[in-house]
Amino acid sequence: MYEIVTEWCNFLIDLGATNVENFTQLMFKLQARYKHIFDSLSKAEQEKIMLAYKIKEMTEDEFLRYNEEVYVPLHPDWFRDMLVPDQEFIAKELLSLLCTREKVHGVIDIGSGPGTLDIFLASKGIIDGPIVCLDPLATSLQQGRDLAKRMAVDVEFQEGRITADALPFESESFELAIAIDSLHWTTHWKNGIKEMARLLKKDGVFYLFYSEHSPRIMIPINEAQNLIYSCGLRKIQTSRLRLQDTPSGSPRILITAIKN
Ligand SMILES: C[S@@+](CC[C@H](N)C(=O)[O-])C[C@H]1O[C@@H](n2cnc3c(N)ncnc32)[C@H](O)[C@@H]1O
Repeated sequence: MYEIVTEWCNFLIDLGATNVENFTQLMFKLQARYKHIFDSLSKAEQEKIMLAYKIKEMTEDEFLRYNEEVYVPLHPDWFRDMLVPDQEFIAKELLSLLCTREKVHGVIDIGSGPGTLDIFLASKGIIDGPIVCLDPLATSLQQGRDLAKRMAVDVEFQEGRITADALPFESESFELAIAIDSLHWTTHWKNGIKEMARLLKKDGVFYLFYSEHSPRIMIPINEAQNLIYSCGLRKIQTSRLRLQDTPSGSPRILITAIKN
């Protein structure tokens, strides 16, 4: 179902949707203009299209419930045993970003899902200090605990999420703060960036990866960059990636930075 939604979103993007407002407008316009086509679609096709509306309109709690009840059960084996291709790319990038450091003192992964990337980093023996995976989805966290146990690595899985409030960690506790494909699901993405910056130690590495065309929240690159700068991060580097194997194929933005 998720693939169908992203397919539909990509279609709207191809038609010229570039931000939340015109994305939504386009959806409504299309539906009005092509109502007779919409009406002629099968019920199943109509439902696929309507789901794109629903994802946008869901409250944060409804969306998380949808994730737990619909999305995760649809992908029971997703991420379970190994890094998916996007994560392989990210893992290589992270290893090269961290290679000049003898050890990395603590990692926080915001919206970690089952934390396969963190388990991978833990298995490399380069992390000295806590590795904390934070995610609202209890099912994913349990998958992560099981995998960490099988891989005999020490990773902490904690239920929580980005909201308007501070996360329950001391400032400057981690040397690496990552958020992969998670901030574009929350209206509080700005606080997500602020929290990542707050939690980083001096010289710590900030690694934000998100979809430029999320079916839910659009994060404008310049707003993200300005905020990252105003949070005291420097050496900000941004790239736009269209990873071949990204499940949705939609462009990803990667912003890395160092805490000053
Ligand atoms: C596409 S998954 C990515 C998981 C993982 N980072 C990875 O790359 O495999 C998005 C994750 O973001 C989490 N998420 C959704 N809303 C969130 C929020 N407000 N704060 C933190 N995580 C959130 C979801 O529960 C989900 O596990």
